[in-house]
Amino acid sequence: MKFFVDTADTADIRDLAATGLLDGVTTNPSLIAKSGRQFLEVVKEICAIVDGPVSAEVVALDHETMMKEAEVLRKLADNVCIKVPLTVDGLKTCKALTSDGTQVNVTLCFSANQALLAAKAGASFVSPFVGRHDDNGFDGIQLIEDIRQIYDNYDFGTEILVASVRHPVHILQSAKIGADVMTAPPAVIKSLFNHVLTDKGIAGFVADWAKTGQSIL
Ligand code: E4P
Repeated sequence: MKFFVDTADTADIRDLAATGLLDGVTTNPSLIAKSGRQFLEVVKEICAIVDGPVSAEVVALDHETMMKEAEVLRKLADNVCIKVPLTVDGLKTCKALTSDGTQVNVTLCFSANQALLAAKAGASFVSPFVGRHDDNGFDGIQLIEDIRQIYDNYDFGTEILVASVRHPVHILQSAKIGADVMTAPPAVIKSLFNHVLTDKGIAGFVADWAKTGQSIL
C-alpha cells in the first residue's frame, strides 16, 4: 500500500520523505488555509520534495472554470495530480483531464456507487473519506471493502486512496482489504512507529550496553 501524507506543511513533508516511506502528498483547500501560505507556491514546493503525485484541488464548481484552474495547477510540476470533487462537473473535468494524460484524484467520495462513477470517468485515484464516514454513523472501512470488490469485479485501474484517516487501525484495515493508497495526517503516520515493547526493548539494550563499558565509535 502506498503512503501519502495529507498536509500542506512542508517541514512535515520533508521529515517524512527522509524516512523513504512517502509515495505522495494530498492537500485540500482547508489544509492550504491552515498553512497560511500561497496555494500555487506551496504546491510547487511540495512537488519538488516528493517524486510521487501531489494532489492539488480545484475550487470552482463548474466544469469550464475547473478546467481553467487545472490548467494553471498542472503547469506547476509534472507530478501534480488534479483533485476534483465527485460531482457531475467534477467527473466531466476528470474525463477531460485523464484523456489528456493528466492524473486526477476524485475526492469527497462517500458511497461505492460514487466510486463506480469515478472509475468509469477514468479517475487515477478515488478518495473515499473513511473518518468523515464514521463520524456520520456509517462504516468507513466497509465502504473501502465494497469499492475494492467492485473495482476487482471489473478490473478498473482507478486506485483506491483511503482518505480522512484518523488512526492506525484505519491504516491496518485498509492494508488488509488491499486498498492501493492511504493518506493520513503526519501525526497518524508517525504513530505507526510506536510500540511499547519497542521502547521497552531499547531501554533494556541501552542499560545492558552501559554495563559493558564499551563504545562502538
Ligand atoms: C483527502 O485527500 C483529504 O484531504 C483528507 O483526507 C480529508 O480528511 P479530514 O476528514 O481529516 O479533513
